[in-house]
Order: sequence, then C-alpha cells, then structure tokens
Amino acid sequence: MKILVTGGTGYIGSHTVVELINAKHEVVIVDNLVNSSKDVLDQLKEITDRHIDFYEIDCTDEKLLEPIFKNHQFDGVIHFAGLKAVGESVVMPLNYYHNNVLSTIVVSNLALKYQVKKFVFSSSATVYGDQEVPFVETMNLLPTTNPYGETKAMSERILRDVAHANKDFKVSLLRYFNPVGAHESGLIGEAPNGIPNNLMPYVSRVAKKKLEFLSIFGNDYDTPDGTGIRDYIHVVDLAKGHVLAIEKLKDSIEVYNLGTGQGVSVLELVHAYEKVNEVKVPYKIVERRPGDIASSYANPNKAFKDLGWKAEKTIFDMCKDAWKFEKHYQEK
Ligand code: NAD
Ligand code: WQD
Repeated sequence: MKILVTGGTGYIGSHTVVELINAKHEVVIVDNLVNSSKDVLDQLKEITDRHIDFYEIDCTDEKLLEPIFKNHQFDGVIHFAGLKAVGESVVMPLNYYHNNVLSTIVVSNLALKYQVKKFVFSSSATVYGDQEVPFVETMNLLPTTNPYGETKAMSERILRDVAHANKDFKVSLLRYFNPVGAHESGLIGEAPNGIPNNLMPYVSRVAKKKLEFLSIFGNDYDTPDGTGIRDYIHVVDLAKGHVLAIEKLKDSIEVYNLGTGQGVSVLELVHAYEKVNEVKVPYKIVERRPGDIASSYANPNKAFKDLGWKAEKTIFDMCKDAWKFEKHYQEK
C-alpha cells in the first residue's frame, strides 16, 4: 500500500515508518516539524536504506496539503500529527483544539475527496478518564482532565461520524497506553525539548546526570507500592500494531487498545531501569501531580483477537532501548 504518514518525523510516527517499510509499504511523510527535526529523515534512511518522500506542511492547512493527495494516490493515511503535552494544553487550550481537531478534519476531508479508503488515528488511553482497570474498548469515554484528552475524544467522535456517513471510508482508532523505548539501532527515539514531562525520558536524563533526581509524584495511591501504575509499551511494538491495523482494516469503524495489559509502578520502572542499565536513578517522593490517576492499563485482547497483535517486548527491553538512545543521541 501507499501510505501517508502525518507526523511521520515524530516519535511514534518515525518508528511506524520503519515498520511500514519493513512490511513493504510505500510511505510519504508530512510534518510541520513543530516537535521534531529533519535529521530524523537521515536516521530513517540509515535504518531503512530507502529515500522517503517528505513534505514540510502543516496539516491544518488544507490548501497546502491538497496537492500531496492529488499527486499521490494513497491507499491509506495514518494520522499522527498532533500536539501532545498535557500541561501545555491546559495553558494553551485553543492551540490544542485548533491543531489537533482541525488537522483531523482537514486530513480526513482530503482523504474522502481523494478516495483514500483507510484511515488510522492516534488516540490515547486518556479518553477512558479515571475508571476501573483494565480499560476495555467497550467502556464509555469519560471527560478527561485536560484539553489534550478532549481533542482526542473529539477527534474520535468526528471520525466515527465520518465513517458512518461514508460507507467506503474505514477508520481505526488506536488508543495507545504509555509508549516508551526506542528503535534498537539507537538512531531514533523520544527526544523532548527542554525538561521532559514524561517518566521514561526523565529517568533517562537523571541516569545520564543531566538532571539531579527524579521526583516521584506521590506514593500514597491505592496501588501495591503506592506509586502510580501505567501500561508502558515499547514503541516498536506499538509501531507494528499500526501496520496490522491498516493492513487488516475492514469494518467501518474499529477501536483498539494498544497496550501490554501489564501494569508497572513508577518504582518498578525505576528499579528495572537501574538493573538492566547498571546506572543509578536517585529519586525523591513529592506531592501528587494534579490530574494523575492511580492506575491505567489495557485489556489488549481485542487487538490480539482481530489483528493477531500483541506486545512482545518487556519492561527491561524498554528501559534498555531508552538508555541506548539517551546515551548516543541526547547530547543537549
Ligand atoms: P511527537 O510530538 O513526537 O510527534 C507528533 C508529530 O506531529 C511531530 O513530529 C510534530 O512536528 C507533528 N505535528 C504536530 N502538529 C502538526 C501539524 N499541525 N501538521 C503537521 N505536523 C504536525 O508525538 P508522538 O509521541 O509521536 O505522538 C504521535 C501521536 O500519538 C500524537 O497525535 C499524540 O497525541 C498521540 N499519542 C501519543 C502518546 C505518547 O505518549 N507519546 C500517547 C497517546 C497518543
Ligand atoms: C507516568 C507515571 C506519573 C513523571 C501521559 C499523558 C497521556 C499519554 C501518555 C498522550 C505517572 C509518574 C511522571 C515524573 C513521576 N500521552 N511520573 N515523575 O501521565 O500516564 O500519561 O503520557 O496521549 O495522555 O497524560 O505519563 O510518563 O507523564 O507518567 O512520578 O517526573 O509516572 O505520576 O504515575 P501519563 P507520564
């Protein structure tokens, strides 16, 4: 298939490009580089030994994006492009609604206009809000605690309506849990600007002594060791899930959790990181972070049943690959 990957120089997009090429698909990337760099294209070339068409375009700009659809006959779109910093979304809600919701409208509208039949969307486990774990696809979506989460819930609803209204347009909504780790080459990975918000990149910076210690946000949750539980998933497993989702997409609208089904606490992740990488990660327990929930993990059975997908990499693989990327490519 010929597949348009929006946000393809970003963290999850770049790993998915590699897996799409491994599975013999042809890829075109559109990204406005708001949260990634053109250097990723060189790394992708080194990993895949392929030239990949790239357009620096904002996906909210229909006029600039339309010629890409006109000039390439895409069989499918994977729409990763979006802003993802939860805290920033609280401070700049309009940026988030504009960028994330409008890009979904623009990209799906062009997909319809140019008869692209398959559309895969990056959603998030955040749409489940705080309800009983494990989260399963049949649960109602609860209001999230931040505008970022709302943009994902809104985009899901929009795409559902579009799929219902257009019988040849098939949509897969993929709800990711906590993507971490990096490609085993160490050439691509998660490279947040400034001080990381998310746990794994923060732990990596502490291990590298770029930051003094990790602040663990609360040890009084109702969990076995009191720290928050999440379903960390290796980004390469996640990327493979996208390949299967687009290849096997057959119903009008499909929704899949992409997670391991295993809950891991903050302390467990820190200890796994120290053990597998033989490094020290000093930490202090501090106040809970507003908006955090105690536990989030997937029931991933549906993706296994329908797509034959299941996460294969362990928390040790995730920590090992995150450290490899940090050591080699995070000199800033
Ligand atoms: P990322 O920031 O690394 O990648 C997103 C890419 O989209 C970036 O390269 C950015 O430059 C680009 N982009 C943003 N707005 C754009 C626009 N208007 N036009 C063109 N390009 C644009 O983030 P990621 O972690 O790879 O996330 C990819 C997608 O998955 C996002 O939609 C994100 O919300 C979603 N998601 C991420 C996580 C996570 O924890 N990383 C979890 C659930 C869902
Ligand atoms: C994980 C755990 C923290 C940092 C976020 C988004 C979610 C999705 C994935 C996009 C929690 C604890 C963290 C630190 C800590 N993104 N922690 N110290 O919050 O589960 O999910 O990213 O869709 O929408 O909300 O991920 O990595 O920030 O936190 O103790 O410095 O680590 O409290 O228990 P989160 P995270």
